Amino acid sequence: MKKRILVLGCTGSIGTNTLKIIRTMPELFSAVGLVAHTSSEKLETLAAEFNCPAVLTSQEPDGIRRLIQETQPDIAVNGIAGSAGLEPSRIVLDAGIDLALANKETVVMAWPLIQKLAEKHHCRILPVDSEHSALFNLIEKFNKDSVSELLITASGGPFRTYTKEQLSVVTVADALKHPTWKMGKKITIDSATLANKGLEVIEACRLFGFSPDAVKVVVHPQSIVHSLIRTRDGMLYAQLSDPDMKHPILSALTWPDYTDNVLEPFSLFDHELTFFPPKTENFPLLGYAFEAARAEKSYTIAYNAANEVAALAFIDKKIQFNDIPRIVRTVLDKDWSMEPDSFETVFSADTEARMEAQKLI
Ligand SMILES: NC(=O)c1ccc[n+]([C@@H]2O[C@H](COP(=O)([O-])OP(=O)(O)OC[C@H]3O[C@@H](n4cnc5c(N)ncnc54)[C@H](OP(=O)(O)O)[C@@H]3O)[C@@H](O)[C@H]2O)c1
Repeated sequence: MKKRILVLGCTGSIGTNTLKIIRTMPELFSAVGLVAHTSSEKLETLAAEFNCPAVLTSQEPDGIRRLIQETQPDIAVNGIAGSAGLEPSRIVLDAGIDLALANKETVVMAWPLIQKLAEKHHCRILPVDSEHSALFNLIEKFNKDSVSELLITASGGPFRTYTKEQLSVVTVADALKHPTWKMGKKITIDSATLANKGLEVIEACRLFGFSPDAVKVVVHPQSIVHSLIRTRDGMLYAQLSDPDMKHPILSALTWPDYTDNVLEPFSLFDHELTFFPPKTENFPLLGYAFEAARAEKSYTIAYNAANEVAALAFIDKKIQFNDIPRIVRTVLDKDWSMEPDSFETVFSADTEARMEAQKLI
């Protein structure tokens, strides 16, 4: 039977890759509903091509709920950018639908609540972030009790080899030139500051139930090894493929099964693989993420919100590259010890952190 897929953020990078898979494998998948925010023309074209209903959330805030009722999908891919992705994740799980989750902010902001909701409605959450898809597959095969450490790879972004002085004058155009991945603007800036890796560290701790001390970041400029696990006996196991988000999306859509590979097969001979420790002194946002992950409570919400506001302000050329970590640091130094024990408290901490960041801008 075909899997019926709702694509949230269908006009973005994750959404486009999801639709490419659906086009390539029509015997396995069909798009039954499409959601975008403001790209109305693109959405209209896609809805005509896939012959399914579509919703523009900027025009219909309750549109996702309506679309789910109308189309009864088997799974939703959440490729919405930023913290705007949390509420759609909640709506999907509340409706008892499995979630293929690219939107890492959902996990960083509200994992305990999201996990509880998934358990209540017997839904699965399948990670789409390439590193977490790799870890998910590896942990599943080796079983969590055998795993002592998670090693998340990072390309290092376009400024991997820059000095602090060079970093102080980089432009938005420089930061948007990611060496290996083609992604939306916000995540590309986060890859340049290593905030994206910071969010992924928090995401990994939560998705897989590991303490921040058991998570390491390894810079691997080729983005071929997507992550590794260390088993208790000291061995390392890795997942390798070309840097193409269709791999983790396909893995989430077919889990627990595997399909024959329809993508370009990966060849070991064409690549040199190198690994380095991250330069935490030049990219402080990585260290701040570990700090927020250890502090828990509302600290990860504040980290995410302050970074999102600062990254967007940098894209709008309102601040310099090095102001992004400064703003996050100042916001994190406030008191975020309130427990985010309801979606309302999560959104209230998010709003407060945004206001603090905005004041600094
Ligand atoms: N791109 C990647 O390779 C990649 C890899 C791993 C994880 N992720 C994660 O996946 C998510 C999406 O990233 P992306 O790179 O695909 O972003 P993107 O290219 O910027 O696309 C964002 C999508 O979200 C929609 N959107 C924006 N604001 C919205 C709102 N307020 N409500 C509903 N929809 C909204 C956009 O619709 P409009 O076009 O109408 O604005 C667009 O379809 C992020 O959380 C990112 O961290 C991405």
